[in-house]
Amino acid sequence: MRQERWRRVALIGLGLIGSSLARLLRTQDLADEIVASGSRAVTLQRGLDLGIIDRACVDLVAAVEGCDLIVLAMPVAAIASTLATIAPHLAPGSVVTDVGSVKGAVVDEVQRLLGTVPTCFVPGHPIAGAETSGVDAGDADLFRRHKVILTPLPDTDAQALAAVERLWRSAGAELIRMSVAAHDSILAKTSHLPHLLAFSLVDTLARESENLEIFRYAAGGFRDFTRIAASDPRMWHDIALSNRPALHAALDLFQGGLDQLRQAIDNGDGEALLRIFSRARRAREHFSHMLAGTAYAKTKSTMKIEFQVQPGGRVQGRARVPGDKSISHRSIMLGAIAEGVTEVHGFLEGEDALSTLQAFRDMGVQIEGPERGHVRVHGVGRHGLKPSARPLYLGNSGTSMRLLCGMLCGQSFDSVLTGDASLSRRPMQRIAHPLTLMGAHIDTTGDRGTPPLRIQGGQTLQGMHYDMPVASAQVKSGILLAGLWAQGETSVREPAPTRDHTERMLRGFGYAVDRQDGCIRLRGGGRLLATQIDVPADISSAAFFMVAASIAPGSELTLEHVGINPTRTGIIDILRLMGGDIEMSHEREVAGEPVADLHIRYAPLQGIDIPLELVPLAIDEFPVLFVAAACARGRTVLRGAEELRVKESDRIQVMADGLQALGVAAQATPDGMIIEGGRIAGGHVDSHGDHRIAMAFAVAALRAEADILIADCANVATSFPGFADMARELGIGLQVLSTE
Ligand code: S3P
Repeated sequence: MRQERWRRVALIGLGLIGSSLARLLRTQDLADEIVASGSRAVTLQRGLDLGIIDRACVDLVAAVEGCDLIVLAMPVAAIASTLATIAPHLAPGSVVTDVGSVKGAVVDEVQRLLGTVPTCFVPGHPIAGAETSGVDAGDADLFRRHKVILTPLPDTDAQALAAVERLWRSAGAELIRMSVAAHDSILAKTSHLPHLLAFSLVDTLARESENLEIFRYAAGGFRDFTRIAASDPRMWHDIALSNRPALHAALDLFQGGLDQLRQAIDNGDGEALLRIFSRARRAREHFSHMLAGTAYAKTKSTMKIEFQVQPGGRVQGRARVPGDKSISHRSIMLGAIAEGVTEVHGFLEGEDALSTLQAFRDMGVQIEGPERGHVRVHGVGRHGLKPSARPLYLGNSGTSMRLLCGMLCGQSFDSVLTGDASLSRRPMQRIAHPLTLMGAHIDTTGDRGTPPLRIQGGQTLQGMHYDMPVASAQVKSGILLAGLWAQGETSVREPAPTRDHTERMLRGFGYAVDRQDGCIRLRGGGRLLATQIDVPADISSAAFFMVAASIAPGSELTLEHVGINPTRTGIIDILRLMGGDIEMSHEREVAGEPVADLHIRYAPLQGIDIPLELVPLAIDEFPVLFVAAACARGRTVLRGAEELRVKESDRIQVMADGLQALGVAAQATPDGMIIEGGRIAGGHVDSHGDHRIAMAFAVAALRAEADILIADCANVATSFPGFADMARELGIGLQVLSTE
């Protein structure tokens, strides 16, 4: 690729960044000649000795002579004056870029010194620093999967910009363009402020103590927090002085946060502290997941969670499991496009619903909370969503992706939807295809119709009728939601009833939805009016304890405020058919959804043939129902449930493998499972990152003869945060083992 090669590149500065670039140019053979200049002759000599540069030139003007690319890899404070010095000597067509952490001060100073900013100058900033520095610390791979921000000015030459992008692309970096002001404000908060705090904390403690002995007792937290205080003081002095206005604002913001903390501590206000800490933890978790799920992560989270569950025991007491996942997703989605403020109580603070929440924040919707299940969504109306600046990352959540796909294909802007490894394997054609029939443009860019999804905005959608080939509430909901932006009527017929939360909630927002003979219709173009939503406890989470109480002798349990929407109660019907003892009390309706308290007592279970019509009504509960079947007398047969193969994991295969590992006679079939009830030994099982499988095997331990060790349980947090604590409180001997 001849055109990817530079004739002569000058690196002004041969520290960490400059010498990493030199190594990159050398190892990929991107330049005929690499020249370096800098203030320290020893550094330049070292560059020559290492063989990463061809020529060292103390004189700046001589260094840039005949170069087609010049990189100013030097402290921020020196960039503008260096550019001013070399500007008159640049060869025609040459390109200059820099790597400074502050952009505004550099551009302003260049303007002041030269009266203009040369159009061949492309201000840039690779976010790939390290606390190490110097020519020996360089690494050709330093920029791989790191972000590089370019902040071109209106006059910046397009070819120069393309050339600099080419350089960073060969380094394996992820390129981002933004304005100078946006760069400085974001970096002030996410990089400059943390460095200042780390320097300040170490310095304050060092001054405070008579000698430096206290650091002997400083453990992990201090070490982690202050790692960056080992950075180059001169460099950070320059950055702090160059980005003063943005840093001033960032310090004020932080000071406000610190004041709140101090006030809470002075007043002994535990609630306020918990609020701050939980909000921060959630934000941090979301951030880690974003990093782990997208390509730019260098430090992918390696935290592994396993459950070790003791055999035997019984469950007793009262509990309210977290809010319904399906309803929580929809409360944010419909709240966001409604007019007015929607108040949600009982919102599930699990990662899946939080992914939906974050996606709408990314699309400009102001959402307060969640704080102990309370969320306030400031609706923007049906035409108020804004394009997200980055792909919408939806973690593990199939519901978020399929419903959002429907909502976004009728917008005026393009969207990209991505997810974690499990979601990236799940079929999306089932929703993309019918939406395409309505006029949507959706590319399933992964293998075999899988994510990422690229949705092209600006399409006119036409209402249509669709006969769904699979009974899927997600597909039904995606189509109906697209119908809100379509011309005329949109209708769907489902082959069997599936959960109808979308239809109920749309009506709750004042939107007319009609259902007749299995056909659901709505007309596009209406308005949604903000409302109040009380999310019931999730029957799919309650299911684990319903089965636990049913299989463990001596159990008696009350589960409060459980959603008993008739499209979700297959678990109750199936357990009752098996002989389960489940009573309901206090039945009532909240915000359009029926709820009740459930009382479950131990009862010997009997194997059954699960009626086909109950399959869609218990679709998420089969992992734990398989455990009930393993504890029942006789044979249980499930058919017509091939959908289980495309959930968060292949739930038929993964459950059959796990049950067999525990000595249960379980046989996977293409569309279900045959299980002979009997003894459950202990052993090791793998949940394959599937939340419901991890929880199902934890329940199995109640009837096991030895410990069950369950691998890959971190995703339990997607639907049931606090599961381990609740399981322990109710009587399951569950330990969480986490390893890095
Ligand atoms: C859901 C629908 C179901 C279910 C999922 C949640 C929803 O998926 O398994 O956990 O909220 O609409 P399918 O539509 O794929 O059956």
